[in-house]
Amino acid sequence: MSLRAKTNELKRRMNEAFQGGGEQALEKQKASGKMTARERILALLDPNSFHEYDLFVKHAGQDFDMDKKYLPGDGVITGTGSINAWPVCIFAQDFTVAGGSLGFMHAKKITKIMDHAMKMKVPLIGINDSGGARIQEGVNSLAGYGEIFYRNTQASGVIPQISVILGPCAGGAVYSPALTDFVFVVDKISKMFITGPEVIKTVLGEEISMEDLGGARVHAEITGNAHFFAESEEECFNQIKRLVSFIPWNNDKKAELFPKKAPKSRHYKIESIFPTNPMTPYDVRDVIKALVDDSDFFEIHENWAANIVVGFARLDGQTIGFVANQPMVLAGVLDVDSSDKAARFIRYCDAFNIPLVTLVDLPGYLPGIDQEHAGVIRHGAKVLYAYSEATVPKLTVILRKAYGGGYIAMCSHHLRADFVLAWPTAEIAVMGPEGAANIIFRTEIKSSDNPDETRKKLIEEYRQKFANPYVAAAYGYVDAVIEPSETRNFLIHSLTLAQNKNEIAPKKKHGVPPF
Ligand code: HXC
Repeated sequence: MSLRAKTNELKRRMNEAFQGGGEQALEKQKASGKMTARERILALLDPNSFHEYDLFVKHAGQDFDMDKKYLPGDGVITGTGSINAWPVCIFAQDFTVAGGSLGFMHAKKITKIMDHAMKMKVPLIGINDSGGARIQEGVNSLAGYGEIFYRNTQASGVIPQISVILGPCAGGAVYSPALTDFVFVVDKISKMFITGPEVIKTVLGEEISMEDLGGARVHAEITGNAHFFAESEEECFNQIKRLVSFIPWNNDKKAELFPKKAPKSRHYKIESIFPTNPMTPYDVRDVIKALVDDSDFFEIHENWAANIVVGFARLDGQTIGFVANQPMVLAGVLDVDSSDKAARFIRYCDAFNIPLVTLVDLPGYLPGIDQEHAGVIRHGAKVLYAYSEATVPKLTVILRKAYGGGYIAMCSHHLRADFVLAWPTAEIAVMGPEGAANIIFRTEIKSSDNPDETRKKLIEEYRQKFANPYVAAAYGYVDAVIEPSETRNFLIHSLTLAQNKNEIAPKKKHGVPPF
């Protein structure tokens, strides 16, 4: 056979595989508002950068007449490419082929590209659209999931792992995304659950739709399983491209330096954002935008546990992880969910050499029976653990309230912050003036002729004495009390100083964090 004939044969085979599950299945995919697996990869990666592997892999099913079936690519497309010219490994499950179900060879393709990503130390992106373990292949499908989970865990903290949920993701299939760093969902398209509505109805007699059980909004707003929510697949891919621009390829590298840019000071001015009344809430994201390059803040978990804000921005071109209490929501308290959210983000930044800036304004941990019974002790401890463990540069700015456990937890010097700055508006004490006066002056207030007047006077006395940054500064717990307008310069200067920081953790196999 001539070279031309052999090339034509290759093209014919490729073309056959590119048809996926056939016309009818492709139409069904389109009708449900979804792109095909191949379209997704091409939309996400840089033009002409995709290089596919294992297109001609054959499935290994023998039972239930599976040996007579042709499943192109065994229902998953794998390969390499680039995003913003940075190399990535990628797989996308093809729902048009046996519902994207995970059989033995399907799993082998995924684990092969995962191994490749680890060996080359580049990010791994998984696009999930699958009915879960391929029922006809029995225990081999389960084994496939186990192999994937193991690799997810080994890769954790070495390469960034990004999961995109673009279809059903049921049973064990949800656990690979749950082991990765960032999970993206799209409204009306993404579904994640351990057991679906039918099983729930049979076992518990409870009725619920798939959307209400595990739709995109549920995971972006209630469970926190999803970090990013998009209205469309296109918007989702743009979010991924933006995320990739902030993070390093692997744990040996630093994030790419971007050209320095000043904040958009006409729109974001601290003086006009920050209220003069200490009881008035404000949006801490505006403070972040007033500090960072081009006022560009990329928020993570935007719709979940909004009493804390986490995300990436740049200072003088360098990627920074911001953690900030949000006074607009529950006065910025730490509770079960916000502690989980912050601790996970801190550990991500620490694993990938991203310096942390913490903005503090909170009355403390949220009191209440619900919180206590939901385990606020264990969850709150995660924040203490994550900050104490982190060895990346850690800079803290106390804007207003820093009371009690909240003061310590939000990256105080005691948890080894490298620099702690405070604005003159900072209030650093065991608790707020009202609560404190009611406790320490209880007898005095009770026995006074005019308890209300006495209470007011003593609260004011306490405020004057303790509700400021100077007591903490007198002990060196605050390094400098600065004007808000000096903050950006101070942070950039401190980051330059801390760039060669090399803190060695005590030798151990690993710690035992309060998971
Ligand atoms: C084999 C499957 C499949 C599966 C879907 N298909 N799921 N084939 N194994 N797990 C096939 C269907 O038979 C169908 O084939 C095609 O994919 C499209 O599926 P439909 O049902 O027509 O699509 P739709 O109506 O959109 O429903 C999608 C779905 C549903 C909600 C995902 O298919 C479903 O409930 N599937 C089963 C989900 C599940 O229970 N998975 C096992 C989880 S247990 P044809 O030939 O008709 O087109 C698990 C354990 C892992 O994953 C544990 C690891 C620790």
